[in-house]
This record gives sequence, structure tokens and C-alpha cells, in this order.
Amino acid sequence: MLDARVSEHDQRFELLADLGAMVAGEVELDELLATFAARVARALGADRATLWLIDGATGEIRSQVATLPELRELRVPPGHGVVGHVAATGDLVNIRDAAEDPRWAGQIAEQIGYPTTSILTAPIERRGQIRGVLQVLNKRDGAFTLRDEEFARTLAEQIGRALDYTTLRGADAERGLSLRGRFNHVIGTSPAMAAVYEMIVRAAQTDATVLLHGETGTGKGLLARAIHVNSGRRDAPFVHVDCTTLPEALVESELFGHERGAYTGADARVVGKVEAAHGGTLFLDEIGELPLLLQSKLLRFVQERQFERVGGRETLTADVRLVVATNRDLAAMAEAGQFRSDLYFRLRVVEIEIPPLRARGADDIADLAAHFVGQLARRYRKGPLQLAPATRPALIAYPWPGNVRELENTIERAVVLATDATIDVKDLRLEPRRAPASAGAGDSMLGLPVAPAPATVSLPADLSLAEAERRYAVAVLEREHGNQSAAARALGISRNKLARLLR
Ligand SMILES: Nc1ncnc2c1ncn2[C@@H]1O[C@H](COP(=O)(O)OP(=O)(O)OP(=O)(O)O)[C@@H](O)[C@H]1O
Ligand SMILES: [Mg+2]
Repeated sequence: MLDARVSEHDQRFELLADLGAMVAGEVELDELLATFAARVARALGADRATLWLIDGATGEIRSQVATLPELRELRVPPGHGVVGHVAATGDLVNIRDAAEDPRWAGQIAEQIGYPTTSILTAPIERRGQIRGVLQVLNKRDGAFTLRDEEFARTLAEQIGRALDYTTLRGADAERGLSLRGRFNHVIGTSPAMAAVYEMIVRAAQTDATVLLHGETGTGKGLLARAIHVNSGRRDAPFVHVDCTTLPEALVESELFGHERGAYTGADARVVGKVEAAHGGTLFLDEIGELPLLLQSKLLRFVQERQFERVGGRETLTADVRLVVATNRDLAAMAEAGQFRSDLYFRLRVVEIEIPPLRARGADDIADLAAHFVGQLARRYRKGPLQLAPATRPALIAYPWPGNVRELENTIERAVVLATDATIDVKDLRLEPRRAPASAGAGDSMLGLPVAPAPATVSLPADLSLAEAERRYAVAVLEREHGNQSAAARALGISRNKLARLLR
């Protein structure tokens, strides 16, 4: 056994080194965070540690990683308790006896459900902004020392730097803020992907509008974010708007906001996504689904960066970089009069074609599979899991019509069902399926949707209509390889409605 002091010293050093490697892109943040809280607590000779991050949208402070497996996420309103105090003031707080300190909010102590004695809390700052709070509880032998304070400060500084290479994923608010690295979690070294990275890095350095085109599940969402975090706008918001999620009547107000009284039910002014993205990046996903009327309003915004809120007279401007994505053939749609060609030309300043998975070669497929096995085994707390060597040729031979998302789903199912440490070919359940879809499949030459291969579902006749609808929706979703937008389109309903059906 090492002397405790020496090993504490080593642990501190390793933590900082790992955060440094994260910044250099060699370590994945998700991976690092999985063991982060426990390591911080150990390195400081304390019981527990928690990393809190401030939700940019609400100001709420949420625990991201904690040595509290029994509690998934804690939330603290701004200004509340020690954490709220530190988040508001940027002070480092070292408390010997929590019971004596008025800032120690009883509620949180109760939520945590264990007696707290000493508390060390450091602000996580970056470029003059407080991004979060690092908190360590209950020093084993007494109180936190000055050296502990110093280490906590350094650690918080490094975390701040690491956060620079991540963005908080607003769309996934339910799953908590998900931290995403630079390119360090975009897997793939094939020449086809290297060309994509090259384009992305070059485009990121400018404010040019970028159009990402690729089949479903190729990683358009991921790469849109990569453009943002590699651009000078990385500290400002990344705002994602899915053009299929909303009923047509609400898209305009979603994008541009509305004034109070703009229509029945509009009892407060609401700021649109365009304004929310000011200074940052606005990602318009599934742009091919944007209603024609909105296309003209968007065109004006793209040309002049000007807009009005619904029901408002004032002309507003916003400084945003636009990234748009689609799996549709916009050129063909423009020809068929379904997409404004002037808008199309404005959007495709930089057009990046994301290659389908089958065009990326054997190594990318194998690397992605291994990546997902590792990631999902951790998520499902499965212990170390491995792909059997025989899975490699099977994975490579499969056509992956649903691309990376389908590969991810396939691995997820295998990981969840795994009963031992090795995933065999049969566990992957790679059923022979229809031939690979070509780019833009599902659209005819005229850009009109062509009915995809019919899915046959047999449903028992004693179901309620609601349950029958749900099962049918699930079947269509499966046929569309989990792509909710495509499934909603096929069913002729909005994505919101589909989400409700699936619930
Ligand atoms: N190169 C990659 N490395 C690691 N993960 C990836 C990669 N590409 C995609 N993924 C993952 O695969 C899934 C699908 O990617 P994403 O949602 O970005 O695809 P998409 O092109 O936007 O699909 P759709 O057109 O259906 O919206 C996501 O979970 C994403 O994180
Ligand atoms: Mg997408």
C-alpha cells in the first residue's frame, strides 16, 4: 500500500493530467466524468464530490456528476444554498461546520440524506463567466486545508477549460445537460470522413452558412455541433430547431418569437430561437420540411439578418451563424417547386456531403462499433464488454441503411441483452434487410415522397384503437431505422404527435 499522502498527491496529479488530455482531444469527456466525482473525492480525502453546471437557459444549477448513485440529478435554483451562493458570487467557500453556516440549505442536506460537516466549494469560471460549481463534502480528517482550496481552484480552472470544448445540449434537457467534446467523440478516420472534418474545420472559422446533406443517421446533428464548438462562437448558444417538430402554424413564432396578444393564448412576449441564438449558431434541422411561407421569411433573415416577431412591428436583427441539415434532395425539391430555389442557393454557401456509413470502409465501422460498445456498456453499467472477433466481418458486410444510428441501436440492443462479457454475431441480430438506400431514397426524381417498402404488421383484433395506433407507429419507426422525423412523415403526423403516440 502506498502512503496515503503520496497516493493523494498522485491522484491529484492524474486528475489534472486527464483533464488536460481531454482538452487535447485524447480523452472523451463523458468517459472522464463517469469516474470523476469519485476521483475528486478521493484525491481530496473527502466523502463526496459533485460537479454542478449552470443551465444557460434557466439559470438553474444542476448536478452533473456526483458520488451519489442513488440520486440522479439535483437541481438548485439560482442563489440558493452554498452552491447557489458560489454560482452567483464566484467566491470559493470553505466551511468547517455546515451546521453553523446559514448558506447551507437544509433542503439540499435532506435531499442528499446524509449529515454534512465540512464543505469546500469552488466556482468554475471561463472567460469571466461562471459556468458551474465544484463541491466536495466531508473531509475525512477534519477541515479542508489551504492546499485543498488551492487544488480545488486549479481543478475548477481545468474543468472550465475542458468545458470550452463542449456545449450543453438544450434539446435533451430531460436527460440532463449532455456534454459533448470537440471532435474527440466523432469516430472515423476514413478518407471520406477526413474530407468532411477538413471542410468542417475550414467552414467553422468563417460565419458562412453551412448545409449538411446526408442520409438519415449519418451524424448531421453531431457535425452541426462540431461546427459550433470549433468556431469562434463556441461560448455563445447553439440552438437547435427541428423543422418537423412543430405544427406549421407555430413554426414562425418558434423561429422569430411573438409579441403579447399576437394570437389567442399568446399572453406573454416570447423570444424566438433566432434571438436565442444571438452571437452563436442556429441549427435548422430537416430544413427540407420548412413550410413554403416560412421559407420566404427565412430567406429575408438569411439575406439581411432581419426579422419581426409575430404580431410585432419592430424590425429586429440577430447575429447568428446558420447551419442547416437535410436528408432530402433540395435541388430536386427546388425544381419541383417545393423548396424556394433562391433560399436553396443562399443556404448552400458551403455544402458538406456526409457519406453513408457503408462508404466509409471497414475500419470506421469497426471503430464505431467498439466505441458504442464501450459507451453503452458504461451507460448500462454492464462491466467490460467485448465484441467477438467474428462480429467484425459481419458488421462490415451489413449494408447499414440506417447508418450510424442503426449501428448504435444494434449495439445498444446487444449490450442491453448481453449475458456475458462477449457479444457474439448472433447477439447483434443482423437480419438480412432490404438493399441499402441510395442518397435521397424515399424521394422520387421530382422530390415527391415515394411510398417506402410497406411494413407488414399484424395486430390482434382485441386492441383498443389507441394501442393499435401505438403499435403501428412503433412498426413504422422501426422500418425507418428509428428516425422519428421520417416515421412522422410516413405517418402523415407531426413529430410531436408521434412522440405522444409512442408514450
Ligand atoms: N462519426 C460518429 N461518431 C460517433 N457517433 C456518431 C457518429 N455519427 C453519428 N453518431 C451518433 O449516431 C447517432 C445519429 O447521429 P445524428 O442524429 O447526428 O444523425 P442525423 O444525420 O442527424 O440523422 P437524421 O437525419 O435521422 O436526423 C447519434 O447518436 C450520434 O451521436
Ligand atoms: Mg438529425
